[in-house]
Amino acid sequence: MTDLSKYRHLYPHTQSTIYLNHAAVAPLHSKSIEQIKQFQKERIVGNIAYWPDVMDRKTEFKQLISRLVNAPSDNIAVIQNTSTGLNMLAHGLDWKPGDRILLNNFEFPANVYPFLKLQKYGVTVDFVKHRNGRIDADDIAEKIHSQTRLLSISFVQFLNGFKSDLEAIGQLCRQNNIIFCVDGIQGIGALEMDVSALGIDYLSCGGHKWLMWPMGTGFMYISPRIFNRVYPVMASWLSVEDAWDFFNYDLKFLPNAERFEGGAFNLQGIVGAIASLQLFEEIGLKQIEKQILDTTEYLIQLLSDNGYRLFTVTDSRHRSGIVTFHHDKVEELFEYLEKEKVSVSIRSGLIRVSPHFYNTLEDIDKFMDLVQAFDGS
Ligand SMILES: Cc1ncc(COP(=O)(O)O)c(C=O)c1O
Repeated sequence: MTDLSKYRHLYPHTQSTIYLNHAAVAPLHSKSIEQIKQFQKERIVGNIAYWPDVMDRKTEFKQLISRLVNAPSDNIAVIQNTSTGLNMLAHGLDWKPGDRILLNNFEFPANVYPFLKLQKYGVTVDFVKHRNGRIDADDIAEKIHSQTRLLSISFVQFLNGFKSDLEAIGQLCRQNNIIFCVDGIQGIGALEMDVSALGIDYLSCGGHKWLMWPMGTGFMYISPRIFNRVYPVMASWLSVEDAWDFFNYDLKFLPNAERFEGGAFNLQGIVGAIASLQLFEEIGLKQIEKQILDTTEYLIQLLSDNGYRLFTVTDSRHRSGIVTFHHDKVEELFEYLEKEKVSVSIRSGLIRVSPHFYNTLEDIDKFMDLVQAFDGS
């Protein structure tokens, strides 16, 4: 395994806790906290009305995202969270009765409700059924209908960490002229992503999990292919050309993804996000991904060797930062781990473990020792 231990000191909670819950909310690291504190200090003793600075930071943020997901920065917009981005797509498209949308029955609801709301326009939502936590491209292909206009799927599923075969799904979408939308929140920051190579048309991603941003900051990407097909749901004063010419009410939307943004935004969150993106760039996403996958592989091995039943699909093509397993005393085990200062989640009656790059194999050993101690073995 690559030694990323020099970054561990950026996470002071590691001195007293074992945090294995990044699929829920990630801790901020001390570089991010320092940048946010500096930003706050400037707000009280320095440049209080900070408009030009706002735009520079937004540009910097988008350039970092552009490199993270391999997309032009003009096609990236700042959003609050994943739900906002998905709603912007769902409600920005022109729907006709009879149009169909393809989802699956294993999604987190954030990637379902924005599309179900479209039923009131006569749109039908179809669901591919997962097979014991797998969503296979062949099953998706079978559910495609001549009227299917859009498919939305998570990069990584929240419950068991199943990583979608975005390459195969993207191909299906292109062959059938379907808009290909991805909810990125459970994968981006942990795994490499290339929206251009995968032919993704739209990506929505909140930042408070694997990207380690302050909550309430996220981004969306819209491909050049569908850019003109999505009408901005929010027309803010900053969505237009010549925004500072206040009494020129010509509604000329900007030619880039900024047209989709609301007005003033969470700049403090963006400051924290920039610090995190810079850190991830310094380490390299390839290294981060490798570290996470090595750690989860180790955990999968330990759980299997000790007789625990996994709900995570262990095939390496579908693995991510999430490992989920069955236990017959989920609540009690969870409470016991909390008491021992080990953080995981309970989701749908299962234990979900989600280490990030700074977690070590020793963290995993301690977690496993505690689970076994709880089970009296
Ligand atoms: C797959 C997935 N999408 C979206 C969300 C959250 O949506 P939002 O960023 O809108 O809070 C979660 C978890 O909270 C998730 O697991």
